[in-house]
Amino acid sequence: MDKLSIEGPVSLQGTIRAGGAKNAALPALAACLLTESRIELTDVPDVRDIRTMLSLLDHLGVDSERSETSLLLQANRDPTAEDAPYDLVKTMRASVLALGPLLARRGHARVSLPGGCAIGVRPIDQHLAGLEALGARVRLEHGYVDARSDRLRGGLFRFSMPSVTGTENLLMAASLALGTTVLENCAREPEIIDLAELLNKMGAQIQGAGEERIEIQGVETLSGATHGIIADRIEAGTYLIGAAITRGDVCIENARPRDLSALLEKLTETGCQIDIDENGLRLRGTGELVSKDVVTAPHPGFPTDLQAQYMALMTQAHGNATVCETVFENRFQHVPELNRMGASIEIDGSFARIHGPSRLSGARVMATDLRASASLVLAGLAAEGTTVVDRIYHLDRGYEAMESKLQALGARVQRISGA
Ligand code: EPU
Repeated sequence: MDKLSIEGPVSLQGTIRAGGAKNAALPALAACLLTESRIELTDVPDVRDIRTMLSLLDHLGVDSERSETSLLLQANRDPTAEDAPYDLVKTMRASVLALGPLLARRGHARVSLPGGCAIGVRPIDQHLAGLEALGARVRLEHGYVDARSDRLRGGLFRFSMPSVTGTENLLMAASLALGTTVLENCAREPEIIDLAELLNKMGAQIQGAGEERIEIQGVETLSGATHGIIADRIEAGTYLIGAAITRGDVCIENARPRDLSALLEKLTETGCQIDIDENGLRLRGTGELVSKDVVTAPHPGFPTDLQAQYMALMTQAHGNATVCETVFENRFQHVPELNRMGASIEIDGSFARIHGPSRLSGARVMATDLRASASLVLAGLAAEGTTVVDRIYHLDRGYEAMESKLQALGARVQRISGA
């Protein structure tokens, strides 16, 4: 298993470009199951979760071809395939995004239940209740969701809590349903707006994506389309925090400030200088870092996917900060590892209290999820000596070429292969 070795401390300096968003590309890939026509996507990041989704799509009869600039997808090889097997779903929960499109287009879907994962229980009851509201008959058996329907019918569904992939699954399913669907208490993440834009280019009639209420007028068929995936706000946010924690000066081209407003506001409060121009974002870590509390929340709140990285930053800030995680129940796995590097963090239920600043020292560390691993890399950049982050296949799930982007900013980072 690959590791990442980081020599710290360093001050990150320079310019990098944010890649396409993994969490926008995953539903866009699933959307190709809604049509036989060709879908062309640009800015799809080359990360492990995308490769897993392409394996699932291949299993479902989708041909894909990657060129330097785009990814072509066409779902016309095996139009009766309808199952997402356990082996693929267990490695990536987003495989559940195949459920809505398969059911809507093929009338039957058999998708392995994802089960719990490192950051929490993560049920999919909202996806299933929403599909039932559109007329699907859903059974759970042998660890699989078996959903069937003749043509789905438009309906009204109110989410009990905003779910990102739940909203995406229902957008895709309702696009081919008979009549109008109204979804309430929807997630409002930018990735949902991006999916709705792709679906509308394919001929869907979706209004209100990005708002709490979305209305979808079902259509008979969807066609091909060409679509550019939005920039990854979590990747951009991770490198901005990297600039802040190393007191550096970093420009991130292509980053979309409107998608990052909660983070930018918080980083400004902690004393970082942020400039926004037409090319992207620049962060300068000039003055002293001040501790500031954070509560994670669905968009437009502070993203849970940046909580771990922000906590690494707070280890270098003056004062005490409280981080409250409200989205997932088990997303503090970076804490014991940060403490092994010299941080002073206590956990109390969904609260973490960080007493800063701490002098971090390099250590061998490991995390069991993607964003926790990113926080350890950031801590390693600020720590004295060598940090070795183990099991970086977690990082490879969602960060494209992290070591080369960090190297471009002057970090002394090396991948140690297979050791
Ligand atoms: N929830 C339910 N029932 C459901 C669906 C969700 O109880 O049917 C709960 C979850 O357990 C969680 C909360 O609702 O407590 C929100 O979960 P959500 O469904 O929004 O999460 P998700 O769609 O499974 C996506 C991202 C995650 C990101 C979350 C929250 C993708 C592929 N994944 O997951 O990304 O953390 O939204 O923003 O879009 C990551 O990239 O590292 C990552 C974990």
